[in-house]
Amino acid sequence: MELMKIGIDKIGFATSDLYLDMVDLANARQEDPNKYLIGIGQAKMAVIRPTQDVVTMAATAAKRIISEEDKKNISYVIFATESGIDNSKSAAVYLADLLGILPNVRTIEVKQACYGATAALQLAKGYIALNPESKVLVIGADNARYGIKTPGEPTQGGGAIAMLVSSNPKILELENPTAAYAENIMDFWRPLGHSKALVDGKYSSGIYLDFLRNVWDEQFKKTGFKLQDYGALLFHLPYTKMGLKGLRQILQDASVDDSTRLTREFEYARQFNREVGNLYTGSLYLSFLSLIVNSDSIRSGQRIGLFSYGSGAQAEFFTGILQPNYQEGLAGVDYQSILNKRQAVSVSEYEKFFESHIFDIENIELDYQEDNSDFLLMGVQDYKRKY
Ligand code: HMG
Repeated sequence: MELMKIGIDKIGFATSDLYLDMVDLANARQEDPNKYLIGIGQAKMAVIRPTQDVVTMAATAAKRIISEEDKKNISYVIFATESGIDNSKSAAVYLADLLGILPNVRTIEVKQACYGATAALQLAKGYIALNPESKVLVIGADNARYGIKTPGEPTQGGGAIAMLVSSNPKILELENPTAAYAENIMDFWRPLGHSKALVDGKYSSGIYLDFLRNVWDEQFKKTGFKLQDYGALLFHLPYTKMGLKGLRQILQDASVDDSTRLTREFEYARQFNREVGNLYTGSLYLSFLSLIVNSDSIRSGQRIGLFSYGSGAQAEFFTGILQPNYQEGLAGVDYQSILNKRQAVSVSEYEKFFESHIFDIENIELDYQEDNSDFLLMGVQDYKRKY
């Protein structure tokens, strides 16, 4: 019996129309620009307007890919975020409303730091196995905030990834088995009431690599897949140098001399992330998008390995097979030109935007005249967000 293929049918992305150049940030913080450009591996960082949040960015990302026909078949919206806008109500129900896919649909929010979207994807895979005619809309959306003049500052960013999960997917068939690993540790966290993450930065980077080795070895035990079985290896990219360290560790552990192919694909896969920064839940999937948009050497039929990591901490290594005509799942959106059209802001403008995001406010009307996005946060009335 031939097994039904389940996986990513379409993928969309949205970020802010504003960015900060990392050279400007380095100069303002009296750092050598090469520390950010090479040492951290970031060229630009998305600057999120106060009129944008995870819901508006997710709505823009989803609108770019879902058709009217898709809307009729979406019976589940799973919204992964660690920048939630409510402690009780899910961001998914706001999103489903903005997209016009209410009321016969399940709407939930999931959280486990940057791993959340992988949890959502695996939940969607199981759901489609039971409901092959349905489609699931999976979101990974975040605004990564560490604070002004903190070591984490150059690793901020934000945006949303939307993925439509279905049977007979156009882009990536998700394979079984996968390797998961969890431990209760404090490398990065955001206590209730905090609008910025707390982090033990060096420790978190070391733990990331330990978890990678763990799930890579576990996956090898389960599948026997070796380096040559992969067309590309993708990583959660809190900053792009972190993924490069991960790739180097895998190559070193395998004592491989010729790593040209995987290193080349990794460079394609970090292109967009270098320009946007950390998306938290969406970062791994932005890297996947970057690979399939930018690589002229990746081929359908190749196996892609994906390393998902979320602080606290949870990791999973899983694989997928790139499908014939995978480019069709991009719905014709030109992401490079969207990124090129963004406007640069100065360091003082970035700081102003950073400080003007709203948290725990009873009433406010936001000035949205300068925000040309399709979806806007217009204000809060009696603690109710208005879009
Ligand atoms: P830092 O301490 O300011 O930086 O912060 P550093 O001194 O370690 O320098 C960074 C790199 O730049 C080093 O390279 C330097 O050598 C190099 P490395 O040793 O790492 O290879 N460097 C230079 N290179 C070229 N030219 C120069 C130069 N100067 C220095 N002139 C840190 C770095 C990452 C700790 C900080 O940014 C931070 O705390 N970031 C946030 C935490 C983070 O991203 N952790 C990653 C793993 S945890 C994770 O991925 C989960 C997460 O996404 C959250 C979630 O799950 O929700 C964060």
